[in-house]
Amino acid sequence: MANYLKPIFFGIHDSEGFIQGIQKAVDCISGQDGIYAGDNLFTHHRNLGFLEDEPLMKSFAAHAQTEVEQAVLWRISTVLWGARNGLKLDGDFVECACYKGTTARVICDAIGFNDFPERKYYLYDLFDHDPSLPHHAMPEHSKQLFAQVKKRFEGFENVVVTQGKVPDVLTTVAPQKIAFMHLDMNNADAEIGALEVLFERMVPGAILILDDYGWLAYRAQKVAEDPWFAKFGYRVLELPTGQGLLVK
Ligand SMILES: C[S@@+](CC[C@H](N)C(=O)[O-])C[C@H]1O[C@@H](n2cnc3c(N)ncnc32)[C@H](O)[C@@H]1O
Repeated sequence: MANYLKPIFFGIHDSEGFIQGIQKAVDCISGQDGIYAGDNLFTHHRNLGFLEDEPLMKSFAAHAQTEVEQAVLWRISTVLWGARNGLKLDGDFVECACYKGTTARVICDAIGFNDFPERKYYLYDLFDHDPSLPHHAMPEHSKQLFAQVKKRFEGFENVVVTQGKVPDVLTTVAPQKIAFMHLDMNNADAEIGALEVLFERMVPGAILILDDYGWLAYRAQKVAEDPWFAKFGYRVLELPTGQGLLVK
């Protein structure tokens, strides 16, 4: 059995002490198998089946470059599961928002998105920090990022990268039928805005992944989204990865 340890944990004020504690805990595990440590997760004696998913691991090795990207493997495997489910349904894929495009790039190779020319993957982001909006400045936000992300998807004619503010930009470019959607904007208003436009376009059986739903730092999203979904009779499942999962 394999283990997966990446020392990236968020919200820690003494990283050295925390990692030493994790190491001590690892040393106490019989067999020391099935351990995932990173991205605020610590498991042991788990199958970690995604480590045996060859298309995922090959694509992940090629495209997850930073330590943070490498720590979120379990989250990316969840997104891949949702995308694979979408391949059985009629409709396009959506990600609001894609930032550097890492997750979507991993998905495209893992499922061979080129083999589905009739299906599009719509990726949105601001790409540059806009201090007038309540969104995080990310380390690689820049005037060039939009062009860099478009280049990252060169060769995928069916990936549509659009710069703009969600939900406003959805009036210009957006699919009518959605087979898979990933929301990851760290921003409750933007996510509710996206849901107002796009949720009804998700086809029955389509998976929605809410990247920030279970994270305390983004609790405002759960607080806004729970009553929004309740109006339509849905409940979100909070996953141990911090993601939220909903089946339309
Ligand atoms: C955590 S990053 C997304 C990471 C990406 N989903 C991935 O898995 O690789 C969050 C992104 O949301 C974008 N964002 C936040 N509010 C937005 C809005 N209203 N419209 C478009 N993009 C937004 C930010 O610019 C940022 O790049």
